[in-house]
Amino acid sequence: MPSYRDRPGAPAPGTRLCALDEIREPGARGFLFGEGTTRFDMFIVRQGDKVVGYVNECPHAFTPLETWADKFLTLAEDEIICSTHGALFRIEDGLCTSGPCTGKRLIPVPVAVKDGMVIISG
Ligand code: FES
Repeated sequence: MPSYRDRPGAPAPGTRLCALDEIREPGARGFLFGEGTTRFDMFIVRQGDKVVGYVNECPHAFTPLETWADKFLTLAEDEIICSTHGALFRIEDGLCTSGPCTGKRLIPVPVAVKDGMVIISG
C-alpha cells in the first residue's frame, strides 16, 4: 500500500486541519495543500467524534472523488462515493466494495481529534 507521505506536498504529522465542529456529522471535508507538482489533495470523514482521512484520489482512474466541494458521501451518508464512475468505499477503511475498482483501497491519511481540532496524526 502506498503511503500518503510519499506524495510531494503531504502535510507533516501534527498539521492542524480544522475544528471537529466545522464538519457536519456525518459529513466530509476536503483539504488542499500546495499547488502544481506539490499539490496534495485529501479529505476527512466525520462520524460522531471519529474521523478518518484519505488521499483524494480514486484508485480507478486516479481522479479526485468529488465533483462538488466536500461531497464525498452517498446520499445516505454511510459510504464514500466517487462521482466519476460511482465506485463506493467503506468509510472505516477505504475499501472499494462496488464499482470498477472493487477490492482496491483509498490511500489512508492518519488523522485524530486533539483538543477539538482535527490533526494529521502520523
Ligand atoms: S474514477 Fe472513481 S470510479 Fe472511476
